[in-house]
Order: sequence, then structure tokens, then C-alpha cells
Amino acid sequence: MKLLRLLFIFLSLPLFAQQGGMWIPSLLEGMNETEMTNLGMKMTAKDIYDVNKASLKDAVPHFNGGCTSEVISNQGLLLTNHHCGYSQIQSHSTLEHDYLQNGFWAMNLKDELPNPGVTATFIVKIEDVTTQVMSGVSEAMPEADKQKKIEENIANIVQTSPKEAWQENRVRTFYEGNQYMLFVVETFKDIRLVGAPPSSIGKFGSDTDNWIWPRHTGDFSLFRIYADKNNRPAEYSEDNVPYTPKHFLPISLDGVAENDFTLVFGYPGTTDEYLPSVAIEQVINTINPARIAIRDAALAIQDKYMRADPQIKIQYASKYARIANYWKKWQGETLGLTKSNAVGIKKQQESQLTSQINKKGKQQEYGQLLPQFETYYKEIEPYALAREYFLETVIRNVELLRTAYQAYQLKQVYENRGAQSFNDRRNNMVDRLEGEYKNYSKQVDKEVFEALIALYAEGVPQQFLPASFKTMNAQQLTENVYKNSAFVDYVSLKNLLEGDAETVIAKLDNDPGFQIVKEMADAYFEKVAPKYEQLELNISGLERDYMKALLELSPKDARIFPNANSTLRVTYGKVAGYSPADAIYFEPVTHLEGVMQKYVPGDYEFDVPQKLIDLYRTKDYGPYGENGKMAINFIGTNHTTGGNSGSPAIDAEGNLIGLNFDRVWEGTMSDYYYDPALSRNIMVDVRYVLFIIDKYAGAKNLINELKLVHPKKEKGKSKKKK
Ligand code: ARG
Ligand code: ASP
Repeated sequence: MKLLRLLFIFLSLPLFAQQGGMWIPSLLEGMNETEMTNLGMKMTAKDIYDVNKASLKDAVPHFNGGCTSEVISNQGLLLTNHHCGYSQIQSHSTLEHDYLQNGFWAMNLKDELPNPGVTATFIVKIEDVTTQVMSGVSEAMPEADKQKKIEENIANIVQTSPKEAWQENRVRTFYEGNQYMLFVVETFKDIRLVGAPPSSIGKFGSDTDNWIWPRHTGDFSLFRIYADKNNRPAEYSEDNVPYTPKHFLPISLDGVAENDFTLVFGYPGTTDEYLPSVAIEQVINTINPARIAIRDAALAIQDKYMRADPQIKIQYASKYARIANYWKKWQGETLGLTKSNAVGIKKQQESQLTSQINKKGKQQEYGQLLPQFETYYKEIEPYALAREYFLETVIRNVELLRTAYQAYQLKQVYENRGAQSFNDRRNNMVDRLEGEYKNYSKQVDKEVFEALIALYAEGVPQQFLPASFKTMNAQQLTENVYKNSAFVDYVSLKNLLEGDAETVIAKLDNDPGFQIVKEMADAYFEKVAPKYEQLELNISGLERDYMKALLELSPKDARIFPNANSTLRVTYGKVAGYSPADAIYFEPVTHLEGVMQKYVPGDYEFDVPQKLIDLYRTKDYGPYGENGKMAINFIGTNHTTGGNSGSPAIDAEGNLIGLNFDRVWEGTMSDYYYDPALSRNIMVDVRYVLFIIDKYAGAKNLINELKLVHPKKEKGKSKKKK
């Protein structure tokens, strides 16, 4: 039992026992169902996930592969975050019709705006296929052979498992390769923008308040799923009709109070809860500092231009938000890992595991795991650092390099797969880039390039740098590239990409933007990637065995949940405040009063629309207020991560009470270590969403579609005596 206590420290904190973890919805019966019931849930596991009849899962699609959304009407009305719909809202915005600035509301179906490429994916069915995936895989096989066999088996399952013609089979691994699940999914492709508040509501507090509690953001937007006449997925067409869902969420008008049960249902992206302490140390000391420094430089430059030029402000709003988001998160994460002593706690857990291994006589099987982690992590460090620099510089922060890198891959496509593939990919690229260059500023990108190239030369271990970098002058290089490369504007790039493959490649080879990316990528793929990938393969083999040891040697009732992997999960807990430091306690609910306290007229982060100020002055909250106050955000102990944005927060009965959108600063290390005292998710109170739609925007047409309920008041009536 000692092991259990140390492995899952929250078990020793009775207040928060039975919380933390992201669970597989088809496997809730038993421990999870009991825990949820103990926390106040009135539903059964089958109300959440059922293959045979409509259940909550049928109302919770993955939004565009990265966020979560929920269906809230029988006409396919979809609720997600403002920041999840941000690039769609942006793409419909111009200086004349600036929906980011002013909001957008479709007052009828005709006004809803199509978004090519945007998807909503529902889960039809989840099935354990571990046995099929592992068939023919033996302990003795070398790691690479195991992987190969597993991939073959997966491909076979995907091909042969029954599904409808418009559905898709996907297999995903859980517990680092100890379990495999098949997902049958359905993807809708005609998703239209229905409504968005102005950024001064939907993004109130912007980057200053991002990852921070107390929060006052109306982070929501509305879309609608359209289907063909048979209610099936279809590409955009004028003939499509609003989708009729199997289930949609009723909305509770009763609000939340401390200790209320909450369930958050969504698609968490990635977590790494079972990394050894050496890996966490590497994140804290090496990886996060490098990432943060690179983004420090890129963001400072973008910010300078965005503040000075409203056109650049629109062009860079979405890109800036994306880069700034993780830049800030990594800082909070490093802080939280340090403050919660995650390394120390992991070390303790590791020594407990070691003694358990010894006690059970499992040295042969598991005795080398921890020492091997040490060795591999030491060995991989310089490679991992170089890789981080490559990704941050070439793929994520310098636009010219990213585009030139796509051209580098295009050239490889020709070399490996021939002219036809080259043509397809080139045409595709030319189309796609037209949109991207609308948001491109050569001036901004040039300055980012110069700063980041200099950091690259300094930060990447010398042995991995391209030869020319050792004597490179960043300023000269930048001048040359941005003066002579075709990649600095769309028309010249389009011209460059015209012609047959040989011609295009000859032109590319002469382009200074292409040349620099080629040098960087060649060096990376020669000196870094092969070794990195080999070590990664070894590490993931160790992680699988380590997980196996944990599953095997922990007590039966240990709460070992699988890492997030962008599949549908349930996390549950309760509405709860927290204490970030001595003598400070944060209440769990914020109100409109707080918006007014933060209000800075004209400020791009903290301005408040006049209409909202008027509604506040007259306290015109309609049925959405409570005791003369308008609730805005609340926090809970639900264990969430990136991808959970837009996830429904659901009450004990299955009604929508909120919309997940963020976590608190002191708790963002929960991707590596969930601390029940500090880790909180942040949700918009759904009543604030309704208030904005109804009172602020006057979109009664949308309110009329919804099913509004009063579960607490109903109960009050029937149990008056109590
Ligand atoms: N931090 C939240 C999440 O990771 C919200 C991000 C969007 N908001 C922003 N100000 N960038 O996605
Ligand atoms: N804001 C995140 C998202 O977009 C959620 C989180 O990381 O807590 O998914």
C-alpha cells in the first residue's frame, strides 16, 4: 500500500481523493462510476457512453482535430471556444467587417458562413483490440520488428473491421503500447460559423490573463454542423441541411456552487504523466528554456508591429496567439514543476518501484528500466535540444523558412515518387499558400528571421550546425535572403513554382531562401534526426515496459489512467477554489464586477464594449443572473490539457453548465504531474454564454433553439421538506 500512496500522492489527501485522471469513456463501469457517484453524480456510466443508444458521447465531437465542441440543439448547433474558432472568425474578417473586433451573429441560417476544411468528428464506437494488435509480437523480438508487426496488424484491423461507408476506423494506443483501442468515427465537413462575441468579450484579458485565475473571459463561439439530406457527412453544399444529432446537451440555468460535481468530456491532446525524473529534469533545465527563449524573441518583434499597424494586427492575431499560448504555458509549467517538487516526488516513486521490483523478484524483467532511462536521456539531450531549435526556428516561428521547408519536401517528393506526385503536391501548395500569404508581412518575418537565425547559431550544439553557420553573419544573410528570395511574396513564389519538376527544382536550388533551409534541413536530417529517432524508439520501448511494471506491481485499486492521446476522455471532479500561496485563497467563481474592475478603456486586452457596460449598469441579466450578479468563469478539479478547450462541463444529471477553456497558472504542470491542491481547469459559466447571445447580441433565434432546464430548482420543489 505504501507504493500506492507514493505513486498517487492525492490518495493521501482525502479532500481530493478520487480526482485527477483522464479516463476512457467505454471503461467507466466499476471504479470510475463509483468515484463519480461519490462525488455526487446522478447518471450511470451508460448515460455517458453507450454503443446501443444515444448517450452523452453523441453530443461531443472533436472540433477540427484540435479542440472539443458540443451539440446544443437538435439542429446541430455547436458550441466551442472563441479561441478554437479564432482562425475561422479571422478568415471572414476584413478591416471593413472585422468580426474579431466586433463579433459576428447570424440571425438566420442563410447568414451562416462556410469554413472549407473545418471538421467535426463524432465517436460511433470504441473497442479494445489489444489482442489482435499484439498477435505475432513476442518479447524476444527487436524493438523495430515489434513496431513493424504492430503496424501491420493495425493496418489490417483498420481495413477489415466493420463500419459504414461514410465512417472511418482508427486504432490508437493507450498505456504506452500496453493497450490498443479501435475507434469508429464519423466526420462532418460542412461546419458554418454562427456566432462569435467581440474579442473584448471572447478574448477579454488576452495574453496577459491567459493561463491565469481569476479570469473573466467569454471564450465561446458558435458553429453549426450541416449534413446531406440523409443526415450524413458531406462536403459543403448549398443543399446541405442542419444536422440532426443523436443527442444534444440540455443547458442548466441553475449555475454552480463550490463542491458541485463536474464532468468534463473531450479530446485531451498529449500528457506525459509517467515520465521518469530524469526526463522531467530535462524539460525543466534544457527543453523549456530553449523554447521559451526562441519565442521570447519572435513574439517581441511581432508584438511591436501589431501594436503599430492595425493591418498587421489582424494578419498576425491568430499566429501570435498560438505562439504566445505555449510560450506562456511552458513558463508556468516550469514554475509549477519546481514548486510542486515533481522531480523529488518522482524520485521517491521510483525508489518505491525499485523496492517493489526487488521484493517481487522481478529484477530480471524490470530491474534495468530506471538505469536505462538515465542512460538514454543523457544521450538524447543534445539531439533533443537541436531538434527543438529546428522545429521552433524552421517549422514554427519563421514563416519564410516554414514555406521554404515545404518546398524542400516537395523536391524530395519528386526524387522519391516522381513527376505526378510532384505536380499534385505543388498545385496543392500553390492553392494553400495564397491564403497564408494574405497574412504575411515581409517586414515582420524578416526581423524574426534575423533574430532566430542568430539564436540558432548560438543555441544548437556546434557539431550539429550546417558548416556555413560557423562563420555566418546573421544580418548579411537576412539582407540577402529577404532581398533575393522568391519566398517573400506570393506572386514571385507562384512564378517560381511554375513549370515542370526539373525546372522548378533548378529555380529552387538558386533561391537563397531555399538554400538556407536546405542547409539547415540537410544538417538536421544527417546529424540529428537518425540518432534522435533511434533513441526515441528505445525510450518508447522502455516507457511501455515501465508502464507494464506500474500496471502489474501497483495495487489493484491504483488509479493509473492512460496518457492523453487526442481520443475522447472523461475527467471529473468538483467546483473548487485553491490556495496558490500562504494567506491567499482563490474563490472558484468570478463575476461581471471583475470585468469592470479590469476595464482599461481603449486597451487592446482590457477594453469592454459599451453595450456590456450598459447591461452591467442596469443589471439587465434576465434569467441568467443570480442574486443580482452575473457569473463569468469558474474553476474545478477536472484534469484537462490542450485539446480539452471547448469541452462541455456537465452537471450531475448530464446538463451543460460550462465550457472548458484553460487552466490556472500554478497548475499547468498537470501534463507531467497533476497536483490536486493546485491543478484547476477554467470554464465559462454557460449562463454568461447565454447572456451574451441573448442580451448582448439579441440573437433570440439561437436562444429559441436551446433546451433550457432548472435541475436544482426542480429538485427543490420535489424535496421541499428537506
Ligand atoms: N491557454 C488556453 C489554451 O491553451 C487558451 C488559449 C487561447 N487564448 C489566448 N489568449 N491565447 O488553449
Ligand atoms: N486552452 C487549452 C486548449 O486550447 C486547454 C488547456 O490547455 O487547459 O485546449
